[in-house]
Amino acid sequence: MKHLIDIKDLSKEEIEEIISVANHIIDNEKLYSKKCDGKILATLFFEPSTRTRLSFEAAMLKLGGNVLGFASESSSSTTKGESIADTIQTVGCYADIIVMRHPKEGAHLEGLRKSRVPIINAGDGGRSHPSQTLTDLLTITREKGKIDNLTIGLCGDLKFGRTVHSLISALTRYDNIKLILSSPKELQIPEYVREELIENKIEYIETEDICKYMSDLDVLYMTRIQKERFESEDEYNRLKDSFVLDVKKIENAKKDLCIMHPLPRVNEISVELDDDDRACYFKQVECGKFVRMALILKLLNIC
Ligand code: NCD
Repeated sequence: MKHLIDIKDLSKEEIEEIISVANHIIDNEKLYSKKCDGKILATLFFEPSTRTRLSFEAAMLKLGGNVLGFASESSSSTTKGESIADTIQTVGCYADIIVMRHPKEGAHLEGLRKSRVPIINAGDGGRSHPSQTLTDLLTITREKGKIDNLTIGLCGDLKFGRTVHSLISALTRYDNIKLILSSPKELQIPEYVREELIENKIEYIETEDICKYMSDLDVLYMTRIQKERFESEDEYNRLKDSFVLDVKKIENAKKDLCIMHPLPRVNEISVELDDDDRACYFKQVECGKFVRMALILKLLNIC
């Protein structure tokens, strides 16, 4: 039984296989429209979501399967005191695959590996978000034709941004990657992420000013300051608009820079940039649906 709790649950070869299936689906969508006939995907979301939940549901529906689930903690029996493990065991009787998002980080998810159906972690607190990473890697591959040999800037909330942690972890497996990590000092990557970079001998720079490196970047991955993870609202208000990407700031950037964002955007990318060819964040949303179709097929062992 294969689960996707952490991006490390997939080997580099498996990631590449999923990306390649996703690319095939994009060109041959109809061929896949009955692959999950009779299968059910459950989405258990204990935290808000627009793209992740709906893209998993759209993916399963596009594969000819069905979906069920809930979109907020208040509609689940955990409010009566049920454990997540019991909820998962129960839902495993109704569904063939489960997607779960939960505000609690890490360790408790390991217990879910006992589940009788595959579990996909759709975000655990500020820690990780592996299916977003597959989305990001598919987007980069489609835009740049490769992942190796790229200079990638990650900007915003690198401390609490779970998409950043999973993406960095995946990128450590590629060759000659250079990372420019830009954030206010208070929102730098957590120590365990820095250790992963060092262990894998990845070249990286930590800075508060991405503009100094703008002309070097092949990809710029913007992120939202994660309001819900701050202990103090004053601290959030102090940091929330620390960097806003706009037309002026990319004047010196490469003509084929790929600007990404997992979304939702709050204020970190000016709307005027949406019409620039380099803005790839809505293409990234589309990639999310296709890569999740490929992921569902992989975890259900359907070719
Ligand atoms: C991200 C998330 O939930 O971590 N969104 C997403 O899944 N596309 C990013 C965010 O909320 O900032």
